[in-house]
Amino acid sequence: MTSMTKTVSGSKTPGFLQQINWAFDPVSYLETNHQKYPDLFFTQAASGNYPIVYISHPQGIQQILTNDKKLFLASSETNDIFRPLLGDYSLILLEKEPHQQRRQLLAPPFHGERLYSYGQSICRITQEVMNRLGVGNQFTARKITQSITMQVILEVVFGIYEGERYQQLKTLLGKMLDIFNSPVSSAFLLFSALQINLGSWSPWGQFLRQRAKIDELIYQEIAERRANFDPNATDILSLLMSVRYEDGQPMTDKELRDELMTLLVAGHDTTATAMAWGLYWIHHLPEVKEKLLQELATLGNNPDPMEMVRLPYLSAVCNETLRITPVAMLTFPRIAQEPVEVMGYTIEPGTAVLGCMFLTHQREDLYPNPKQFKPERFLENKYSPYEFIPFGGGARRCVGDALAPFELKLVLGTIMSNYELSLADNRPEKLQRRGLTLGPARGVKMIFNGKRQQKSVMSQESLVSSH
Ligand code: HEM
Repeated sequence: MTSMTKTVSGSKTPGFLQQINWAFDPVSYLETNHQKYPDLFFTQAASGNYPIVYISHPQGIQQILTNDKKLFLASSETNDIFRPLLGDYSLILLEKEPHQQRRQLLAPPFHGERLYSYGQSICRITQEVMNRLGVGNQFTARKITQSITMQVILEVVFGIYEGERYQQLKTLLGKMLDIFNSPVSSAFLLFSALQINLGSWSPWGQFLRQRAKIDELIYQEIAERRANFDPNATDILSLLMSVRYEDGQPMTDKELRDELMTLLVAGHDTTATAMAWGLYWIHHLPEVKEKLLQELATLGNNPDPMEMVRLPYLSAVCNETLRITPVAMLTFPRIAQEPVEVMGYTIEPGTAVLGCMFLTHQREDLYPNPKQFKPERFLENKYSPYEFIPFGGGARRCVGDALAPFELKLVLGTIMSNYELSLADNRPEKLQRRGLTLGPARGVKMIFNGKRQQKSVMSQESLVSSH
């Protein structure tokens, strides 16, 4: 540490006013601070045991996320709010060695060949859900995409296909996540004083009853699957049942349950929100829609999912969606373990530092005209993992960082290739807090205009020339 280092500054507004602003209008809170403190700032946005710094400069984010096993700790204590729902053995509530070990077990099923085997299921589920809409129906895109991602998680992650348990889990999990995402009813998760069971009518009592019902179904499923273990099954639960820790032990039922809940909670709503934003941008900007349809037409009918995910313009549209309307605003906190110098500033030990991807993605120096949706940026430039950072990085980098973009491309590609949709509302969608994430305020209201007619196959050259 040199004597030239500066102290991180931040707004002088009283803490409780900052907290209210952050809770109800996070976008204006972040943007106002960013104007005054473009790279990093001290914030009183959240109460807690730690002083908090938000950082949006890619160099600073890189420094933190590449040192979050030593200089910084990807702590579990700061994620305690998730404990009642996810359980003590959730990845999000582990730290240090046990956390790294669990990540090693989880990584393979979410990457490479395994991932590709889920492509057909994702496209089929998308069509099943879309086919339920009638011509002329108005619908909320977020609800439809949520239905798709819930089904994907149940099939691909839980390995549950249809039948009574599937239906029951779908309904119960949907209700549970609604509680979690509503700022009012989720207050009891934030304030442990409200966690008193006053019977089924009290919010905490209701939460406990719902959780008990879900757990019963999950444990039944685990027991049946252990009894009739299928070594060829490709779902993530089956794979996790067969993996072993370094000492040869398998995961316990409680560990499996907590991990399934974690993957569901972290992976379902987030991806659904990104898909709804994707549909919004594509239909809001006719030239984007046109280019995308031209590119998809080169695949002909019934395209191979693997060809679809490789399409450059579709990939750029998905990246630009995750840039301009990122679902997560922040990484999880990383706690400084000793005095650290970050970009000429002193970070004191015990400070919680969070990467703020929302602001990184709005930086004029990286993304000129940042409020403009322009997929071409991703065709013309290569961004570092700390400049384009929708999934965080380092020790807690998103486990779904490959599954989520894969799903996003296949769902948008399948919907655009097969169905005609339009926006029901021409007003721009605004970003609104949705639990810990950001989503479209009105959920993206759309109209289903029917199935798309047979596609004409264009040559790749004519497409490239039209870009
Ligand atoms: C568009 C969709 C998604 C976005 C934007 C997203 C974003 C994120 C972010 C920003 C983090 C924190 C990273 C950090 O602190 O450095 C995270 C963590 C995590 N994500 Fe995602 N995520 C998405 C989808 C998924 C999916 C599909 C899954 C799994 C099925 C998933 C599972 C997780 C888990 C388990 C963690 C915690 C990792 C840990 O504690 O080690 N996410 N995600």
